[in-house]
Amino acid sequence: MSSHDGFETLAIHAGQEPDPLTGAVVPPIYQVSTFKQDGVGGLRGGYEYSRSANPTRTALEQCLAALEGGASALAFASGLAAEDCLLRTVCSPGDHVLIPDDAYGGTYRLFAKVLAGWGISHTVVAMSDLAAVRAELEARPVKVIWVETPTNPLLNIADIRALAHAAHEAGAMLVVDNTFASPYLQQPLRLGADVVVHSTTKYLGGHSDVIGGAIVLADEELAEPIGFTRNATGGVPGPFDAWLTLRGIKTLAARMDRHCRNAMRIAEMLAEHPAVAQVFYPGLPTHPGHKTALEQMRAFGGMVSFRVLAGEEAAVAACGRTRLFTLGESLGGVESLIEHPARMTHASVAGSVLEVPGDLIRLSVGIEDCDDLMDDLQQAM
Ligand SMILES: Cc1ncc(COP(=O)(O)O)c(C=O)c1O
Repeated sequence: MSSHDGFETLAIHAGQEPDPLTGAVVPPIYQVSTFKQDGVGGLRGGYEYSRSANPTRTALEQCLAALEGGASALAFASGLAAEDCLLRTVCSPGDHVLIPDDAYGGTYRLFAKVLAGWGISHTVVAMSDLAAVRAELEARPVKVIWVETPTNPLLNIADIRALAHAAHEAGAMLVVDNTFASPYLQQPLRLGADVVVHSTTKYLGGHSDVIGGAIVLADEELAEPIGFTRNATGGVPGPFDAWLTLRGIKTLAARMDRHCRNAMRIAEMLAEHPAVAQVFYPGLPTHPGHKTALEQMRAFGGMVSFRVLAGEEAAVAACGRTRLFTLGESLGGVESLIEHPARMTHASVAGSVLEVPGDLIRLSVGIEDCDDLMDDLQQAM
């Protein structure tokens, strides 16, 4: 690929040269566990066993690296498998990590319920508050700052460039979970982050039909140790899952444009709605992170959260009354989803500092006709 190729071109072509053997225009699904060797150790193209490497997975990884502007990428069986592999490679028992005060519940559970038991401690800090982050960096040595922006489910925005600067001054590494934005809207490595992680299950896959994760690295040096851990622990995606994700990525830009347009209209409608107490969407000028989002994002994404004036039971009831918004966990697919974070995706943070309000509803705004989506929400409210 040329270094001048635009995002949409890379999404369709990076890592996806027509197959040299047959001319197939999309990478074949190499549904195979092992590869014939030409004599002992005589590997063809470096492939020996599909846990270590598989050509369909390689195509996905090359595409992901190109889209994030990274040196290399590694694909995983899920977003959490990627997070776990990264943290167990770069951290050792005794290390300390800063984590956000709003984040995907499963990420918090990994830190609080799994890694803490292996000696990796954490402090929760609001990543939108740079002074608070700097104070924590001064308080003790920190190995990793873990950031989501926008966060799940409250859509908080963190200033990636400023956090990268603070992290590097303190000798820490900045990891950004870029799942909500996708590389089309935001490229953290270009803003100074060291590592990007993804749940490719979401916008990258885009069709609610595959679970996957990825790590993208600014620096090639980390690829070897992370690849070693992945091969040693085995959290790899199968070839068909890698292929489905790559197929989804081809339309990422077109889908994201529509997600963003629909979400903005819905956020504006909710902001005027008499039953709504507060809307969380970084595209609204009233959002405290709007200015930073304008600077570091192309547009504001497809996720909208809001609080219902009448309280938790009213929020739960509204989630059950929609026709087009499907009640379900996950996000980032072409179809719209609605959920109640406190009882669903974020049940694992109940009782912690990351607990989410009971009257909160989260929408993953899909790419359907926006008038239909707005009518559906109006009748459900
Ligand atoms: C922001 C974010 N990061 C990571 C994950 C975990 O990804 P996966 O479900 O693919 O393991 C999720 C899942 O919802 C998420 O929303």
